[in-house]
Amino acid sequence: MKFTVAIDGPAAAGKGTIARAVAEHFGFAYLDTGLLYRAAARKVIDGMDPVAAAKALTPHDFERTGLRTAKVGQAASKIAALPKVRAALVDFQHKFARSDGGAVLDGRDIGTVICPEAEVKLFITASDEVRAVRRHAELVEKSADLTVDDVLADLRARDARDTERKVAPLMAAADAVLLDTSELTIDQAVAKACALVAAVLVV
Ligand code: DC
Repeated sequence: MKFTVAIDGPAAAGKGTIARAVAEHFGFAYLDTGLLYRAAARKVIDGMDPVAAAKALTPHDFERTGLRTAKVGQAASKIAALPKVRAALVDFQHKFARSDGGAVLDGRDIGTVICPEAEVKLFITASDEVRAVRRHAELVEKSADLTVDDVLADLRARDARDTERKVAPLMAAADAVLLDTSELTIDQAVAKACALVAAVLVV
C-alpha cells in the first residue's frame, strides 16, 4: 500500500511531534526531512561544499550531536535555498514517501514539491510567540542564557528565508488542510491530525 502523509509548516509549529505520533498511530514510516538539511549543513560548517555535502549524506550523519541547535538550523535554511542542494535530496525523499506500507514526511515542501500526490496534506502553524516559547523550552536546557526573544528572532529569520526563497519555498499546498496548534495541547493536535488521516484511509 502506498499512502503518504505530507506535513509542512514553519519552524517549531509542532510538525515533528505530530508527524511522529501519526506515523506511530498508523504504523507508517517517518522521515524528518529537516534532518537531511541539518546533517548536510553540519558538514558545511565543517568546511564541505554544500552540494557535495548533500550528495554524501550517510545514516551516520543523522546521529551527530548538535544537529538541533539554532546555528545548524540557520545554516540548514541557508543551504536549503540552493537548488542543487535540494535536487540532491529529492529522490531519496520521494522514494521514501512512496515506499510500501505508508509514510509520513515533515518539512517545508513535502506537499508542494516532494510528494504532490500525497493522500493527506497538512499545513501546521502556530503563532510566532507560541512557537518561540515552545522552542525555547527545548533549547534552554543546553543554552541556559538563551531568551525567548532570541529564539523568536531566530525563528522569524529562518521562516522569512524559507518562505522567500525561489526554489520550493515554504508554503501550504492548495489542497492542504490547515491546522493551527497555538491553542491546542499536543494530544489535541495529534488527535486532529490522526482523524484527518483516518478519514482518508477508510474511504
Ligand atoms: O524542520 P527543521 O527546522 O529541522 O529544518 C531546518 C531547515 O531545513 C529549515 O529552516 C529549512 C530547511 N528545510 C527545507 O528547506 N525543506 C524541508 N523539507 C525541510 C527543511
